[in-house]
Amino acid sequence: MTGAFTVAIDGPAAAGKGTIARAVAAHFGFAHLDTGLLYRAVGAKGGDPVAAARGLVPADLARDGLRTLDAGQAASRVAAIPEVRAALVAFQRDFARRPGGAVLDGRDIGTVICPEAEVKLFVTAGPEIRARRRWLEAGGEAGPESYEAVLAQVVERDARDRGRADAPLRAAADAVVLDTSGMDAETAAARAIALVAARLQR
Ligand code: DC
Repeated sequence: MTGAFTVAIDGPAAAGKGTIARAVAAHFGFAHLDTGLLYRAVGAKGGDPVAAARGLVPADLARDGLRTLDAGQAASRVAAIPEVRAALVAFQRDFARRPGGAVLDGRDIGTVICPEAEVKLFVTAGPEIRARRRWLEAGGEAGPESYEAVLAQVVERDARDRGRADAPLRAAADAVVLDTSGMDAETAAARAIALVAARLQR
């Protein structure tokens, strides 16, 4: 495939977006952008978040410590600032329309960044299930966080991401909703790949 083809994957934290996005990108040879990393990098830079967003360079996305729970909270806070979001739009749109196909995962890809995306998926799961996944990723009983603390963070971040005025987290009207609550990662990825394959054949 040589033309542009965009797969937009949105949903709350730890619903499985990243795993699905990586699997779809690998299967079809598409480029993948984890847009949460942009907000994480802005949050981690410190100082004025608007200046940080405007001055973001690729090396900022490769910094250590961007995947932590704290970095996720900081990202969610700076992501509520409209000027921060505006500064990151052009980069995401350029990425989405590159030749050869692209998968972007985030919160507002199907609604704001790429409303024309060829495939839109909204990946979700219950908060307890998502918190459990994040807690296990952080080491479970052997890790630094209690399950209750992780759940509280997930619930707080969901509320902020859904409640903000600018580009709140929600499913696009034409998104396919994939609830991964009772699904393993392989099943969820296979569903997404089947949807993309069906659209490519049209
Ligand atoms: O997907 P993630 O957990 O890495 O995202 C971190 C935060 O960044 C998330 O809580 C909200 C924000 N975000 C956003 O507002 N819009 C996006 N497209 C991606 C992430």
